[in-house]
Amino acid sequence: MLLEVVNIDTYYGDAQALKGVSFNVANSELVTILGANGMGKTTLLKTITGLLKPKAGTIKFYEINIERMSTYDIVAAGVSLAPEGRGLFAEMSVLKNLLLGAYVHRDDKLGNKEMMDNVFELFPILKERQHQAAGTLSGGEAQMLAIGRALMARPKLLMLDEPSVGLAPQIVAHIFNIIKDLNNRGMTIVVAEQNAAMALSIAHRGYVLETGEVSITGEAKALLNDDRVKRVYIGA
Ligand SMILES: Nc1ncnc2c1ncn2[C@@H]1O[C@H](COP(=O)(O)OP(=O)(O)OP(=O)(O)O)[C@@H](O)[C@H]1O
Ligand SMILES: [Mg+2]
Repeated sequence: MLLEVVNIDTYYGDAQALKGVSFNVANSELVTILGANGMGKTTLLKTITGLLKPKAGTIKFYEINIERMSTYDIVAAGVSLAPEGRGLFAEMSVLKNLLLGAYVHRDDKLGNKEMMDNVFELFPILKERQHQAAGTLSGGEAQMLAIGRALMARPKLLMLDEPSVGLAPQIVAHIFNIIKDLNNRGMTIVVAEQNAAMALSIAHRGYVLETGEVSITGEAKALLNDDRVKRVYIGA
């Protein structure tokens, strides 16, 4: 396994947000974390990236324990997160935002130029808009920039927190096509989503979180037809 999360407990103060969560990702897999509002998706991604420290449990990346490592070291080891709400610097240019994603490689100017060319190939609109402030982008473009910035860290594991949120269905379809394409080219990807049908349509496997626990897990095709999954998302 590329990533192996075992029995994680994560708290906000006294409030337990993750309860014994176990979660695996194999090399080249595309795995989705599903769950309604407040079920723990973001908390799990933040725990993996070291932004939150688990009270119990272990996280291994390439067989190395990372649950006590700093976020900087985890990013440098190859885990990159495009955060919920995108986390862009609105006043800064598209280019500057991308370069911030390459912070752990800041001395490798040549490598960063090469990676930037890859990102521009994937998202040509970002090349056109590279000198514009990030705040002037449309929602879809901003999400592309968030993904592009995460890629600038040259991850071995790319994690996306709700890439579809706030976007029109056509734009969501476009973004998910690109995510699937990246995965087809070998990138290992984790996508947290409320949009279960969309996420399961491109994923290999999925995990459903309910109040901080994994309630259902399995192959994406099986989850798409699982009555319990359908029930969780009725009205969603
Ligand atoms: N900073 C925080 N302080 C205290 N409690 C928090 C904090 N962030 C999240 N929580 C709580 O932890 C639980 C899990 O929240 P989390 O943000 O991980 O859910 P989520 O599945 O990502 O939801 P959403 O789809 O709305 O993003 C919720 O009960 C939430 O209220
Ligand atoms: Mg969230």
